[in-house]
Amino acid sequence: MMVLQLGDCGLVPKVHGTEASSCRFCLLECFKSSWSSHKSVHLKAKLSSPDTQNSGSVSEGWLYCLKSGQARTPKLPYFDWTGSLRPYPISSKRVVPDQIDKPDWADDGIPKIEPSSGLQYTVEVKTPDQIQRMRETCHIAREVLDAAARIIQPGVMTDEIDRVVHEATIAAGGYPSPLNYNFFPKSCCTSVNEVICHGIPDARKLEDGDIVNVDVSVYYKGVHADLNETYFVGNIDEESCQLVKCTYECLEKAISIVKPGIRFREIGEVISRHASVSGFSVARSYCGHGIGELFHCAPNIPHYARNKAVGVMKAGQTFTIEPMINAGVWRDRMWPDGWTDVTADGKRSAQFEHTLLVTDTGVEVLTGRLQTSPSVFPWLNS
Ligand code: MF3
Ligand code: CO
Repeated sequence: MMVLQLGDCGLVPKVHGTEASSCRFCLLECFKSSWSSHKSVHLKAKLSSPDTQNSGSVSEGWLYCLKSGQARTPKLPYFDWTGSLRPYPISSKRVVPDQIDKPDWADDGIPKIEPSSGLQYTVEVKTPDQIQRMRETCHIAREVLDAAARIIQPGVMTDEIDRVVHEATIAAGGYPSPLNYNFFPKSCCTSVNEVICHGIPDARKLEDGDIVNVDVSVYYKGVHADLNETYFVGNIDEESCQLVKCTYECLEKAISIVKPGIRFREIGEVISRHASVSGFSVARSYCGHGIGELFHCAPNIPHYARNKAVGVMKAGQTFTIEPMINAGVWRDRMWPDGWTDVTADGKRSAQFEHTLLVTDTGVEVLTGRLQTSPSVFPWLNS
């Protein structure tokens, strides 16, 4: 059992109320009734309870995502939802200007170089030129994530976070790597509450007490950068605060052991030890990964203990560490959209991610916080 130290996070403790499940039912009912009679009009549903943020209007052209991002439906799909979160309709695909250099999945959704590359098996040691380009791209990705962090508050749709990420990325001359990667429909991942990772930005408005992870990846000058952080929305209950803080610490502790000669499998030992002393579990379905000219490549870096990761770190390698820590069980389920990975017990999950470079003496956090980064984590305020 975990021991709660009240106030340790510096946030106002607040107990979750029962979530407004009625408004979600309303939304579904609205879709059911209005779709058959108003197909041509489309959906402009104004619902009865004005006090509830997420019972409001859904605009024209927004549909639910299905089947790994390749299909859409006007009806909430049937699913044995594990918690109180539900998918909402998503907006249409955002446009990237022609002059921006794009990865090979941008047009048809299929990565072509990545899956068959030799770099899925051997870990590349980057050249000084590759490293310099990684630094630039990671700096852009950090500024994009910071721009997203600054707009987070109750009432903001996760689709609006996606719009900020998309626009900031292309304004910097980059391509948002997730967009159309294996048909992923949006430019970043937004993972709320029980979502472990790969949540799709949609019409749901953030609610007071939510936690939301924003995962940003940028392609610029031929290389990718990847980072994410979990943010607090309004006032947060103490356990959620401890979960997010513990996850932040798991990543910090993992980064602190990175240097030439360390086994990749040690990362999972460090993360698992810190999660379990805090009473939390480590999600197992997704791992850290090599990154560079490919979005995902060797090494594979599990975040859990007693993993079978091969190899030792060498100077010049670049990879991510991105622990997902769950308040309850480690097991997960996938939503019918083929992307959204949720906790099997519906309890909350948090994640932090950095892109790292192994140096001769240790590690350079390529996506590290900047002086301009917003102060959104109470434990970093001195
Ligand atoms: N950023 C995620 C990672 O950490 C990948 C997101 S790609 C998507 O690897 F297609 F799933 F969005
Ligand atoms: Co990643």
